[in-house]
Amino acid sequence: MSVQYFEKERVFKLDTPNSSYLIGIIDEENFIGHIYYGKKINSHELTYLLRTEEPPFVPSKNNRDRLSFLDSCPMEYPTHGLGDFREDAISVRTVDGHTALQLSYEKHEICPGKQKLTGLPATFGGEGECTTLKLHCVDRILNLRVILSYTAFEDVDVIARSVEVINEGTKEIYLTKVMSACLDMDNRDFDLITLHGSWARERHINRRRVALGMQGVSSVRGESSHQEHPFMALLEHNADDEHGEVYGMSFVYSGNFLAQTTLSQFDTLRAMMGIHPTDFCWKLEPQASFQAPEAVMVYSAEGIGAMSRSFHDLFRNHLIRGEYKDKKRPILINNWEATYFDFNTEKLIAIAKQASELGIEMLVMDDGWFGHRNDDNSSLGDWFVNEEKLPGGLKYLVDEVNRLGMKFGIWMEPEMISPDSDLYREHPDWAIAIPGRTAGLCRNQYVLDLSRQEIVDYVYGRISAILHSANIEYVKWDMNRQLSDIGSIGLDADRQGELFHRYMLGVYQLQERMITEFPHLLLENCSGGGARFDAGMLYYSPQIWCSDDTDAIERLEIQEGTALVYPLSAMGAHVSDCPNHTVGRVTPFETRGYVALAGTFGYELDVTKIPEEDRNRIPDQVKMYHAYNDLVRTGDYYRLASYSENHKYDCYMVVSKDKKEALVTFIQVLMRPNYHSRRIRLKGLDPNKNYRIEGEERVYSGEAMMYAGIQVQNPWGDYQGKLLHIVEV
Ligand code: GLA
Repeated sequence: MSVQYFEKERVFKLDTPNSSYLIGIIDEENFIGHIYYGKKINSHELTYLLRTEEPPFVPSKNNRDRLSFLDSCPMEYPTHGLGDFREDAISVRTVDGHTALQLSYEKHEICPGKQKLTGLPATFGGEGECTTLKLHCVDRILNLRVILSYTAFEDVDVIARSVEVINEGTKEIYLTKVMSACLDMDNRDFDLITLHGSWARERHINRRRVALGMQGVSSVRGESSHQEHPFMALLEHNADDEHGEVYGMSFVYSGNFLAQTTLSQFDTLRAMMGIHPTDFCWKLEPQASFQAPEAVMVYSAEGIGAMSRSFHDLFRNHLIRGEYKDKKRPILINNWEATYFDFNTEKLIAIAKQASELGIEMLVMDDGWFGHRNDDNSSLGDWFVNEEKLPGGLKYLVDEVNRLGMKFGIWMEPEMISPDSDLYREHPDWAIAIPGRTAGLCRNQYVLDLSRQEIVDYVYGRISAILHSANIEYVKWDMNRQLSDIGSIGLDADRQGELFHRYMLGVYQLQERMITEFPHLLLENCSGGGARFDAGMLYYSPQIWCSDDTDAIERLEIQEGTALVYPLSAMGAHVSDCPNHTVGRVTPFETRGYVALAGTFGYELDVTKIPEEDRNRIPDQVKMYHAYNDLVRTGDYYRLASYSENHKYDCYMVVSKDKKEALVTFIQVLMRPNYHSRRIRLKGLDPNKNYRIEGEERVYSGEAMMYAGIQVQNPWGDYQGKLLHIVEV
């Protein structure tokens, strides 16, 4: 049993394979204190860490110094207004305007497996895979029940957390902040890793020291965003890829978020993750409940690499669902960078014909097939085929593509509405806007108010009709603007603060309905590139478009940051044409293939127009994908060198779970003149096995490859790469 309750000490102990998490109930008032999170321990008798034996820390016996207790005790789920002046995890406002809340333990449940979170993405696991602790806490004055859920997994060092709030009183209560996880830690010297970026340069890694006061990352853009990311890691100052303690937190949510650290007067650290309180105010009627999304925490005693591998295993085994969960994805060719809006049936079929001869398996028709959309200024919402471009409609095109032996996929941006669309002309009030204020456009479009069920139903009707109209086997679901001018005519004045979250619930409902009705569909989420690459989206789509920047060199940094948290199987990555459309860089076709191989792999170019020598390389790349994708998709990822740190070369490897094979990717960004081969020390192999590099005779022991290293000959020229396939002998 991975969750235990020790009645005498009033301690809960959660264990994963290598970590323990301890919670204690304090004093007669039943405060819920945080005792310990870290390396697995056998003992549960650690209540001295709550300091309740020290004089000011016994609140019921020492009311004179009650605030000293509240303001310094490590808490599981701190509240506001009664003396804990640090950041609170939950805030409320009563109809009388008061904001104080005290949560006391009332009872608990320990159940095998894990329940679904209604309407929200969440990790899953059955009996024998995980155990869930539900701590019921109550505020007796407000009659508010807060259920803190903790799931400890058996096969991965993860604790998943979520929070449900129930109003058991007779008057409504406004929730103004409900974080999903809080972690209090004492006297630690930590660094903080977060992911930052912008369009075309998402998820670059940033590491800095945790300082006194507040630090963190957030989004109030209505999406997890290009700019900051719903993830943070706290790690020992000297921790690196292989050593040191690391605490990772990832939010299983795609909307506004806050991930924050506060280092306070006694060097106590409070880390928190949840929906951003800005613009959040949820009216909880009597008997109603609010479910906050899930946050997942990974503990690693062996550095950053082990944290990443735990997240990868968690997401691959306990979050991603559906037909493609454990399956190789078809190699696709997407026409966006090939044609942009300038295409028709004939052009697409020409691309498909050529592509199919080269071994590519699916054609994806991107933006511009509906309404009268010939640029990005119109027609979002009018999900009807433009028969001028596609005579005979989707059915004819898809049948022709299928006849060539290829699957067919389609792009949609269902959450949006263009001012120049029939839908907007008919329903101008369907766009999110504040009455009386002209809403701001972004990419000349508005966002549909998906907090309204009738709009969700309409949009779903169009998605379903399109998917029924032809043999469509893949959808690229895009989302190309941030939410602003937050207002919904469907919500009362005192519920406007619910719009951001209700919008996300609408998006999740749409995707859930779609994958339920079309269970064989492969869904790829996308948001102006990678603005919604988050764990929430992975619950619906096994892959997400990583970035609109397809340049192989820019991708090194983007994919390194992405792989810090997400499995390679989820990273949408394509080979595109050169000069690259985003940065103008020219890189070798092979290198573009090696870099895309670390993701889902596909093409984003006009295969009828690229240079013949590049075209001729595609069949080999197709073979390469088929040879290595099982390994890349399912193996353990190890970072060997980081171009973003050394500015010279990048190197990573994937090792099969049985350690019988591995694939090393080496990309030399800048050629170094008069420089001998590079020593690379591999990771993750079995020290007792013998290996060979495919194509070479020499036999190495695993320990030699890892501890002493191998010599990698530098390729000639900039942007050159190579793959080393390591096989057991
Ligand atoms: C976004 C996507 C691109 C492409 C365009 C189409 O930017 O990230 O891949 O689909 O939209 O408008």
